[in-house]
This record gives sequence, C-alpha cells and structure tokens, in this order.
Amino acid sequence: MCGILGYSGDRQASGILLAGLERLEYRGYDSAGIAVLSGGKIKVAKNKGRLKVLEDRINSGEEVSGTCGIGHTRWATHGEPSDVNAHPLWSDDMTVVLVHNGIVENYRELREKLSQKGYTFYSQTDTEAAVKLIDYYYKQEHNPLKAITRAIKDIEGSYCFVMLFKDCPDEVWGARKDLPLIAGQGKDESFLASDVSAILHDTRDVYYLDNMEIVRLKKGDVRFFDGEGYATHKEISTVTWDSNAAEKGGFEHFMMKEIHEQARAVKDTFGAVYHSGKIDLTEKGLDDEAIKNISQIYIVACGSAYHAGAVAQYVIEDLTKIPVRIEMASEFRYRNMPMDKNALAVIISQSGETADTLAAMRRAKENGIKTLGIVNVVGSTIAREADSVFYTMAGPEIAVATTKAYSAQLVACYALAVKFAQVRGTLDDGECARLIEEIQSLPGKIDEILDERGSLEELAKRFVNAKNAFYLGRNIDYAVAMEGSLKMKEISYLHSEAIAAGEMKHGPISLIERGMLVTGIITQKNLYLKTASNMLEAKSRGGFILVVSMRGCEALKDEADFVFHVPETDCHFSASLSVIPLQLLGYYVAVARKLDVDKPRNLAKSVTVE
Ligand code: AGP
Ligand code: GLU
Repeated sequence: MCGILGYSGDRQASGILLAGLERLEYRGYDSAGIAVLSGGKIKVAKNKGRLKVLEDRINSGEEVSGTCGIGHTRWATHGEPSDVNAHPLWSDDMTVVLVHNGIVENYRELREKLSQKGYTFYSQTDTEAAVKLIDYYYKQEHNPLKAITRAIKDIEGSYCFVMLFKDCPDEVWGARKDLPLIAGQGKDESFLASDVSAILHDTRDVYYLDNMEIVRLKKGDVRFFDGEGYATHKEISTVTWDSNAAEKGGFEHFMMKEIHEQARAVKDTFGAVYHSGKIDLTEKGLDDEAIKNISQIYIVACGSAYHAGAVAQYVIEDLTKIPVRIEMASEFRYRNMPMDKNALAVIISQSGETADTLAAMRRAKENGIKTLGIVNVVGSTIAREADSVFYTMAGPEIAVATTKAYSAQLVACYALAVKFAQVRGTLDDGECARLIEEIQSLPGKIDEILDERGSLEELAKRFVNAKNAFYLGRNIDYAVAMEGSLKMKEISYLHSEAIAAGEMKHGPISLIERGMLVTGIITQKNLYLKTASNMLEAKSRGGFILVVSMRGCEALKDEADFVFHVPETDCHFSASLSVIPLQLLGYYVAVARKLDVDKPRNLAKSVTVE
C-alpha cells in the first residue's frame, strides 16, 4: 500500500523513478524496486530495505537504461519483506512485469488455477498471482488491454497495478480499484503515480483515474479505458497544492489523512479473513479444533492497542462466553500470575516493536501459551516471534497518534469474536451472518461520520483554553472513553481522564468545575439510563455535557450541551463508530491550539524501550 510510479518519455526512466520514489519515502516502506523496458527486454532491480541501497546498486540508475519504466516502494502485506518478495514481480518469461499496491484477496485460488496451467511461483506475495494471470490472458489475446480487462474480472481485492509488456515499446499500463492512481501529462512524456506528490516536480497537469479504470502511457500520449476496454474521455486538472500538502493527499496533517483512511483499513482488514461468505482463521493458526480448545484469552498490549483490546474483551466475552482478561503489557510482563496452558494470548501492536508488548509476549510463550499477534507492520519483531499473525491492513501509519491502526485492530478482534462464537456454538449461523453484515457496513458508516466533522471543528474552538476533560462510559463505551481521552491528551496536551461512569461518585466528581468538558459515550442500550444519570450529576456541578450516542438514542437530548449521533450499528461494534468523533475532537482542539498534531511532544511512534 505504498508507492507506485510509471514513466514513458524521452528521458532516462530510472532517475525519474528513483527521484519520485524518494518523494514517497515519507509513507514508510520495507523494499524498493524499478523495472525499465528497452530494446524488447525488461531489466529489473529491487531489494529489501532503503531506496538508497537500490540507488547505490544500480549506480543511481545508470545500470538500468531505457526511457520507459515502473517503480515501487513496498509495504509488505503478504510475505515478509525480502529481495524476492520486493516488486516488480514478473511472469515466468518476463513478458509482463508488474508493481502493485494493495491486496489480491483471492490470490490463493488464482495461484491454484494458474499452477494447473503450468505456472510456478517464486515469491510469497499475493501480487505474483496477478502478474501471472495477466500473462496468461496476454498469451491468448496478444493485446495488453484485453489481457488486463480479462484479468481484473477475476481479481478480488483492492489494487493499483502498473506494468510493462516486453513487446510493447514505450508503453506503461495501469489499472486501479479502491486505491488511487494518477496520470501526469508532460510535454512528450507522461507519468503514473499512486500519489501526486511523486510527480509534482515534473508536472502539475494530472488526470485522476476513476475506480476500475485502465490507463496507457506512450510518451506524451495518455489514454484511458473503462473496465470493459472501451476508451473513455477524462478532463485534465491542474494541481495547485504545494508538494508538502500533496504528500498528505491535500490534508493539513497525516493524522487527518489517516482518519479518512479508516473505512478502507477496516474493509481491508476484515477482507483479509473473510472469503466466500466465511471468516477463515486457519492461516492464523486457528482452525476449528484450536478454537474449541481455548479455555481463556489474555489480551496484552500498550496504549491505544490496549484500548482496542479493552473493547475486544467486552465483545469476545459477550459473544463467545470465553473468559477474557485485558492486560497492560508493562504490567503483565512482571506479574507472577498463574497462567492457563490452554489459553490464547492475543498480542496487539501497530508497530510490532513495542518493548513491553514484545517482552509480555515472550513471557506468555515461556509459560507455554499460544500467541497470536495482531500487528500492522509486516516482518516486525512481534509478527516474527508470535506463533501466528493476523495482520491489520491499515497501511503505513505516520502520525504518532494512531487512528486507522486502532480501527483495524478493532475489526480484527470482531472477526475473532464472531468466528469463535460460531465454532463454539454460542451463536447460530443466522446470527453470525447478521453480525458479519454489520461489520461490513461499518466502513460506509465511518465515512458518514466524517462528512459531519464540521460541527466538531466548531465545538473544538470552545475548548482551546480548557485545562481538564473527562470521558465517561460503561462497558464498551468505557473502553472507547479511554481511547478518546488518550487522543485528546496526547495531541492537544489537555489533561484528560477516562472514567468508568459508575466510578464518578467515588472520587473524580470532586474535580468538576464550571465549563469543564465532560464527554459521555452512550451507545449500549441496556446502560443508557445509567450513564445518562452520571452525566446529569456532572451537569449539576457545572460541566459542559457532550454526548456521543447512536441515532435513535434519546438519552440527554434536552439536557446535553452538544449531542453527536453516529449511525446505528449492533452495540458490539459501536466502538468503531463512536471513536471517530472523539478522534476528530482531539484533532480539532490540537489544531485550534496550533500544536504539532503529527509529532506531539515527548512521544514516539514506536516505543522500543521500557
Ligand atoms: C497511540 O496514539 C499512541 N501513540 C500509543 O499509545 C500507542 O498506541 C502505543 O505506544 C502502542 O504502540 P503499538 O501499537 O505500536 O504497540
Ligand atoms: N500486497 C502486496 C505485497 O505484499 C503489495 C503491498 C504494497 O502495497 O506495497 O507484496
């Protein structure tokens, strides 16, 4: 899900590709590669690690000459970061060479089909199935457009493909579904890029490809086709952003960009385990037998990952009836608690490198407990050492304050909960199907909430000089309160606490002063009235009452100072929606305070020390 480039023109392609990939480095990647077509031959250079290593190996491009080429920075989703798995990937006789951003979800079926046709596979990537499928059709059609249109009908998932065909001089082909691809128009040359920032130095005249559209570059000639292969007409746009804004896709901060990427992160994470109408966890080491044998679950993590685990505790316990304990990794690692040998330890971490989480996982392993990592960064230490891994498909997260990785962690846990419930018979098939539909509807609902962000931006201005805030909730709403409160404190430096609503009276209520922001998360139907009463107690003492609830909830509608409704969903999954306004509120308060949102003081993206 990282960077992609294509070039066709009169200049040497390698230098342009390397410079463009360098501009995409901020997105984070684990391998880099380029391919150049010249004299009916395609040369590939690629490796694991930094772009600089590639540049040195090919003498800044001189070793790979030609005026038509493609480039890639990989953020591995399928197969560890390695020289072999790095892109470009090629068909057996180098007829087609391709780079890919995204995920080919049905790669296993495609591999099997192609193996029967005599194809062999050399990498662990999902992408190799795509390049070989295109090659397969190309050998029949002798026409790139026909080969691509036939192949994309068979490919499920999200992708941006850019490719070269060895017998099509000067041509670079591209296709996209659910991931961006932009074509740039220069004089006698043209470009493809996954992100406009990569080509802004060369041209500001761009075309934005629609979903399922195909593009062909041939020097200065750029043509577009729909998914059936019919030519389409596109209007050119002129980019007016500076290159710094362009890296952020036009957003002011990475955090806001990543907030907007949550729907896709949720969809792709669930898509990674949902095949042909079923959640399949066998690749995660959890076949039916293993699931039936789980006696206890320990969820271990730090920070926001811990908060995702706190939501999961409520969801998994309620749906599966398996006892679940959520543990802070920094505490778990030093506790002498008796551990159940048939337990499953679920280790949640975006970076996969957090020192306490890693140590806690090792501790669980020493005790003979099976470990499952829910990790975002492929090939990270936790991913390598866990007995099995469930990768969240959030893509690289740049802002220190996590948003999309947290959302992806939640949906990974929902998938565990529903599958465990189904296998252990605590839910019938009909109920599981209903819950799966609810999960699949979350991305659309997340986007609906984002459309209403303006009201939160206005509200945030009120709290620009605030000193303290409380977040209240019960059950899943309490777990979300913890995340909302952390978002507020880490980026806006406003002191904030999450409180289990029932605990208010046992002390914290003494801190309430006139105008203090008290946010109540009220989405759990059976607990509406309880939390509403606690909110009223805060209001009676002068608090500013903000309520986040689901549409149709009448709680505090007359008494609250501000109500934000999220779309309705099954109450087990409400965290995925109620967290969005809380992320936005933290963000807008930080912006109103003119703070460095993406790099808050004293914090690091990956905490590799105790
Ligand atoms: C989240 O916004 C924080 N930056 C932090 O709490 C983070 O979630 C925590 O450090 C855990 O990181 P990990 O997911 O990479 O293990
Ligand atoms: N799924 C592909 C892989 O793992 C592409 C990853 C990317 O988008 O960089 O190789």
